[in-house]
Amino acid sequence: MGRHIHVIGIGAGDPDYLTVQAINALNDTQVFFAMDKGETKSDLVVLRRKICERFIQEPGYRFVELPDPERATDTDYRQAVVDWHAARARIWAAAIAAELAPDGVGAFLAWGDPSLYDSTLRILEAVSAEVDISYDVVPGITAVQALTARHRIPLNDVGAPVLITTGRQLRARGFTGSAVVMLDADCSFQRCPPQTRIWWGAYLGTADELLVAGTVGEVGARIAALRAEARARHGWIMDTYLLRVSDGAPD
Ligand SMILES: C[S@@+](CC[C@H](N)C(=O)[O-])C[C@H]1O[C@@H](n2cnc3c(N)ncnc32)[C@H](O)[C@@H]1O
Repeated sequence: MGRHIHVIGIGAGDPDYLTVQAINALNDTQVFFAMDKGETKSDLVVLRRKICERFIQEPGYRFVELPDPERATDTDYRQAVVDWHAARARIWAAAIAAELAPDGVGAFLAWGDPSLYDSTLRILEAVSAEVDISYDVVPGITAVQALTARHRIPLNDVGAPVLITTGRQLRARGFTGSAVVMLDADCSFQRCPPQTRIWWGAYLGTADELLVAGTVGEVGARIAALRAEARARHGWIMDTYLLRVSDGAPD
């Protein structure tokens, strides 16, 4: 049989986002491997453990914390990420070989869905070159789906594409039509024309959820102030937003 790993999308906040497939994979797992990201995101570590406590019927599983190597800041961004992933792959390969029985089942819990701005699958591909493992992927509800559901809006205009991007890329390249922006610490929407529509959400799916919608001109400054205040209060924030510039076509 050999060692097997489930990469389980756990949804982007609400434990009720877990699918039946995810719950089955949780119950099939003996060892959960978790990145140690330090204190700042400890709320998220707690949430992962709560998910396990709530959905796993037999309490025989255990957690193995994996140290997160430092990412170089003095070199080219892409090269720094490649080196960082390689360092993580070495740590993960050693931990899987040491902690998982030769026919054991392990898992990585991926926030939202593992396909979206998440490095687990890239790193596991590198791990599989070092240790003999098989792995599968259980899809999860992304922050994008949580955002559109909570605002009760369609993601795309009729027959139109949607860009999914980061704050950095939005600032560098702009967008046309509709764009979802993630990983934006800088409220980059403030550089968009004031008539741009925005649907913003923070801590989606949790008890601390914040939602604001309007045009950048109407609500941009309020979102920036709310974001700064919430980030200071919690010590961390995760927020996502959809931007739309209308081309006059019906939506
Ligand atoms: C590293 S990415 C991971 C995305 C995740 N894999 C997903 O499927 O949603 C983290 C970013 O996702 C967004 N995000 C994740 N969870 C969120 C939440 N509950 N509320 C708002 N934004 C969230 C934020 O933009 C955050 O910076």
